[in-house]
Amino acid sequence: MKDIFSSITKKYERFNVISSFGAYKLWLAGMMRQAPISLADDVLDIAGGTGDVTFAVLRASHPTHIQCTDLVPEMLDVARAHLASEPRTPAGDATCAGVPAAFEVVDAQDIPYADESYDAAIMAYGIRNMPDRPRALFEMYRVLKPGGALVCLEFSTPPNAAWRALYNFYLKHLIPFWGGLITGDKAGFVYLTKSIKAFPDQQGLANLMKQAGFAEVTWKNYTGGIAAVHVAIKPEGER
Ligand SMILES: C[S@@+](CC[C@H](N)C(=O)[O-])C[C@H]1O[C@@H](n2cnc3c(N)ncnc32)[C@H](O)[C@@H]1O
Repeated sequence: MKDIFSSITKKYERFNVISSFGAYKLWLAGMMRQAPISLADDVLDIAGGTGDVTFAVLRASHPTHIQCTDLVPEMLDVARAHLASEPRTPAGDATCAGVPAAFEVVDAQDIPYADESYDAAIMAYGIRNMPDRPRALFEMYRVLKPGGALVCLEFSTPPNAAWRALYNFYLKHLIPFWGGLITGDKAGFVYLTKSIKAFPDQQGLANLMKQAGFAEVTWKNYTGGIAAVHVAIKPEGER
């Protein structure tokens, strides 16, 4: 996993646009509309990669602070470089939309933060890549305050059979070829399509979230269910 993402770091953003069929920005905007994040919140970005989600949250919701984490240091180096190109505060602090962001290498399956320390956790295209998903979801649950939300954007399963068949054909035959041609990294796209096919559908992911302790879990489909944004709430008064 580490090798795949550290080897594609430089072309990652192009890879993202291709792998989501160009819809990445649309889905990210949908995620921002669904994310219950407010001005007072301290937010944890899980598997934050090169920082797209972190910067989108900072611009859309202006929380108090955001912690952008990822397993691969090279991905966070790109995120830091993006932040460095933003205007600084008069004191010289690096911010985006006036909000400070911090970056740290973190394995989501073993989060080094205290229980109940974040108001919201957000994660795009992360959980699919984690070998121990129940543990990762439990770790996110643990670090959220009661009433806090996990917002998760991931590839999913189109419910309509005809759309699903067309999409599966596209995934299997066109994406590895097209992605390989553009980025020169066919293996990365073969991994991507296999991981999407093997990933639980909308209900399956909601079940995993409930098993981790989340109470209310809802989701919204994008592009006919090729992607879905789940919002899972940690119950009030629970540990
Ligand atoms: C497809 S990228 C998504 C990055 C970012 N969220 C975005 O939307 O651009 C997946 C990221 O998950 C990270 N990742 C994989 N396994 C992880 C783990 N166990 N803990 C934290 N991050 C992980 C990878 O390093 C990679 O940056």
